[in-house]
Amino acid sequence: MSTQSDPGAPVKVRRYSGSARLNHWIMAISFVLLLLSGLSLFHPSLFFLSGFFGGGANVRWLHPWIGLVFATGFFLLFLRFLPANLPERTDFTWLGRIGHVLAGRDEYLPEVGKYNAGQKMVFWSQAILVPILLVTGFGLWTPGLEFAEQTFAFKATMDQKRLAALVHAIAAVTAIVIWIIHIYAAIWVRGTMGAMTRGTVTGGWGWRHHRRWLKDEVADGRVENKKPSPAE
Ligand code: HEM
Repeated sequence: MSTQSDPGAPVKVRRYSGSARLNHWIMAISFVLLLLSGLSLFHPSLFFLSGFFGGGANVRWLHPWIGLVFATGFFLLFLRFLPANLPERTDFTWLGRIGHVLAGRDEYLPEVGKYNAGQKMVFWSQAILVPILLVTGFGLWTPGLEFAEQTFAFKATMDQKRLAALVHAIAAVTAIVIWIIHIYAAIWVRGTMGAMTRGTVTGGWGWRHHRRWLKDEVADGRVENKKPSPAE
């Protein structure tokens, strides 16, 4: 929604509520902390990263708890963003014209809703990876293993623990690569960062990148280009 006194200023359109942004940033910060603490446990050459957490002993107990915060945050974000990330026919057209996407030729692309197919792929790949990280992480965590033993009478064998460690590492590296692509896209498409920081984008950004979403926002009366009255 826009309330502007400068008639030349771009129309501002709300893209995220305060609670959606808080949800995203709690999850994003916990992801970075997981990345640093996880890498410090991953290889001796990266052990120096444990210094951020006050040493190796701290990292060992902190990493799983940060993981639980992250997984809870992601689960809430998943529920919140699910409707806008459901696949549509136009996603395949968009993907088929990926050359135009990369060249910034938006005029050759179908009108996009709140998220394009690339964003939806980030959403769904993380939706698969986070539960894998959670389950395998539980299998590497002593309290997690004790919980599984007491609740489900499941006692993990050494081979199962080794497999859990391998799958956990592969899923983590994949999630990090997808996260880097996610950040790159957010910086590359100018004006996107403001969506998650201020909560708004310009009407021009919406028209160029998410035209169907913008049209829906206008049709539903959520965009208001309030002209200043003579008294203002
Ligand atoms: C710490 C760095 C991060 C930055 C700078 C960042 C930035 C952003 C921005 C600017 C948006 C808005 C995009 C738009 O509305 O078009 C966004 C949306 C989103 N972010 Fe992040 N993000 C970060 C971390 C993460 C992480 C760690 C995840 C998940 C594991 C994630 C998942 C999402 C999802 C699911 C959306 C909604 C778009 C979609 O469904 O694909 N973000 N992020």
